[in-house]
Amino acid sequence: MNNIDLVYLDGKFLPAKDAKISPFDRGFIFGDGIYEVIPVFGGHGFRLAEHLQRLTNNLAAISISNPHTQDQWAGIINKLIDNVVTNFPDIIDQMVYIQITRGVAPRDHAFPGKIPPTVFAYADTAPVTKSEYTEHGVSAITCPDNRWQRCEIKATSLLANVLLRQQAAEANVTEAILIRDNFLTEGAASNIFIVKDKLIRTPPKSEQILPGITRDLLVELITKSKFTGEETMITEQELSDADEIWMTSSVKEILPVTLLNGNKVGNGLAGPVYKNILGKYRTYKQSLRDGAVT
Ligand code: PDD
Repeated sequence: MNNIDLVYLDGKFLPAKDAKISPFDRGFIFGDGIYEVIPVFGGHGFRLAEHLQRLTNNLAAISISNPHTQDQWAGIINKLIDNVVTNFPDIIDQMVYIQITRGVAPRDHAFPGKIPPTVFAYADTAPVTKSEYTEHGVSAITCPDNRWQRCEIKATSLLANVLLRQQAAEANVTEAILIRDNFLTEGAASNIFIVKDKLIRTPPKSEQILPGITRDLLVELITKSKFTGEETMITEQELSDADEIWMTSSVKEILPVTLLNGNKVGNGLAGPVYKNILGKYRTYKQSLRDGAVT
């Protein structure tokens, strides 16, 4: 349950306890919907335009017409953010969750006729990235990527990701890093970067991975840094041989993976390239908190 008791549902702002969705909603029955998670730093949405563009792309990919213009979306999101800023002034960072499903219809897999989508959103406190994670890193395991072939869609039907993350949880590690046909794709809920001899690499965008907004920011920061970055396919062997492995997401930000399948990555500590790029990410985040960038 979220800490902040205001949600947006189908055109209305209301207390979470009053928000009701039909059990015949196709989101519930089929997982027929898409979602977004938008970090909010100091009351400012992180790459809001990019998140809204991904939302638009995802709706188009599953043939749901976008219920709102970008300005209307920004209005809804800002109202949820402002509610937190006004009522919970101690909360510095938040996240906004948005979910849109195809709507309520009698059960049939094929699309129903024209029906209104269900639109749900709320803001909550952002999970805090613990400094022990950024300093000492987290552990991960590799797993076969047994998801479907449209992983670029941020779909709410996340059962494969749920099972993979649970496999990681049961192995007492933070993330499952996925391998498809001998190549790294991404994490169960994150994108992955590797570093070898100071060269930073991440898999190119394709139907095999979610086009992460944090990933895109990192690619930009790397381009402006003294390091060379490449968006190229990475083999499982190259992943195992990497000097550094990083995972990125809106929720986890950038974390070093220092133990993979029980083996140390590099010297088993957060690497120098990670620390350098993390510094740039933190500078960016602070300027967003200060209202200087979007
Ligand atoms: N997940 N890949 C997958 C499969 C993800 O689920 C996520 C994020 C990412 C990173 O994308 P971004 O940087 O835009 O957050 C990559 C979100 C946070 C979630 O499901 O909660």
